[in-house]
Amino acid sequence: MARFLKRKNILLLLLLGFVAFMGWRMIRPMNIFVVGDDFARPMSITTPPNGIDSLRAETCAECHPEIYREWKTSMHAKAWTDPYYQVDLQFDGNQQICLNCHIPLQNQQEHLVLGFLDTERFNPILEKNPDFDPVLQQEGVTCVVCHLRDGALVGPYRNVDAPHPARFEPEMVDGFSICRKCHVVSGKRWDTFFQIPPPMERSVKSKKDRPLPLTAPAVICRA
Ligand code: HEC
Ligand code: HEC
Ligand code: HEC
Ligand code: HEC
Repeated sequence: MARFLKRKNILLLLLLGFVAFMGWRMIRPMNIFVVGDDFARPMSITTPPNGIDSLRAETCAECHPEIYREWKTSMHAKAWTDPYYQVDLQFDGNQQICLNCHIPLQNQQEHLVLGFLDTERFNPILEKNPDFDPVLQQEGVTCVVCHLRDGALVGPYRNVDAPHPARFEPEMVDGFSICRKCHVVSGKRWDTFFQIPPPMERSVKSKKDRPLPLTAPAVICRA
């Protein structure tokens, strides 16, 4: 009988512990996903490269009409206008964090992120953005999100003759780096509940493993 009581007490303690843990978790919910540092804020790309008038995709369309048409049919071009996304955004309380992947450029967003009120960075301090561009916003994941780095349009080719600064970028040809920023959500915090899909770690061990630039005009398939 004494043994039984002891076991019952242990069970009761475990149950209490579980209830307390769940209670604490109700107050401070587990992170279902954690957004990496590079997407905690919008991308600070605000000026087009030399020789180009604006950041808008239509500007690129003048000289890259086929790529523009292909992009226009993609979900990237609809990442903001997609009605399912718009409903989900309202449902999730219009969180700022959603914007950093669906409309990642600073001037696609109506507000500037000045800082955060919480360590998880889900609660930003916002201010009206005077340079907000509603046309650019409609474009969702637009060309310059993937292509503009430090004033140059980066791509798979070396030594191209372009009317704008252009340079080869290994990330553009390794098949995952450019995409994983938004498509692979990972978190190393101890209290991250799920990591779906698990963080993808692929190391480039030697110079030999690094992707080589393509020779234009190669026929390559955009994934
Ligand atoms: C880390 C980047 C990132 C963040 C943050 C993010 N999304 Fe997304 N979202 C994506 C990607 C990438 C996809 C496409 C996934 C796929 O289909 O493989 C997507 C797809 C979606 C879809 C599906 C659209 C469709 O038509 O299939 C909805 C809806 C959506 N997101 C809503 C949201 C909402 C609401 C938030 C904020 C709570 C949010 N997203 C935050 C990257 C993100
Ligand atoms: C006035 C014409 C013109 C405009 C506007 C223009 N480009 Fe280009 N771009 C070119 C030419 C020409 C090349 C050379 C290679 C080729 O013909 O594709 C090029 C090359 C590129 C490359 C390949 C770079 C490399 O080294 O691999 C990328 C990426 C690119 N442009 C992106 C863009 C984007 C994004 C925009 C819009 C912001 C844009 N371009 C606007 C004419 C233009
Ligand atoms: C700036 C963030 C971002 C980057 C970078 C990005 N994506 Fe996306 N992608 C999204 C979002 C957001 C969606 C969902 C749009 C929607 O449905 O509302 C999406 C949707 C897609 C879809 C459609 C999925 C579906 O279920 O319909 C494919 C395919 C895709 N992306 C492939 C890629 C590839 C390949 C790359 C790299 C070359 C890439 N993405 C880079 C944000 C991004
Ligand atoms: C989600 C990221 C992403 C977006 C958005 C995107 N690109 Fe690209 N682009 C890439 C990647 C990755 C490559 C290199 C691999 C390939 O060509 O498939 C590339 C290749 C290119 C090239 C060089 C290859 C070629 O075929 O000439 C040009 C030029 C280019 N993109 C222009 C654009 C323009 C213009 C837009 C918008 C209308 C755009 N891209 C939107 C990721 C993107």
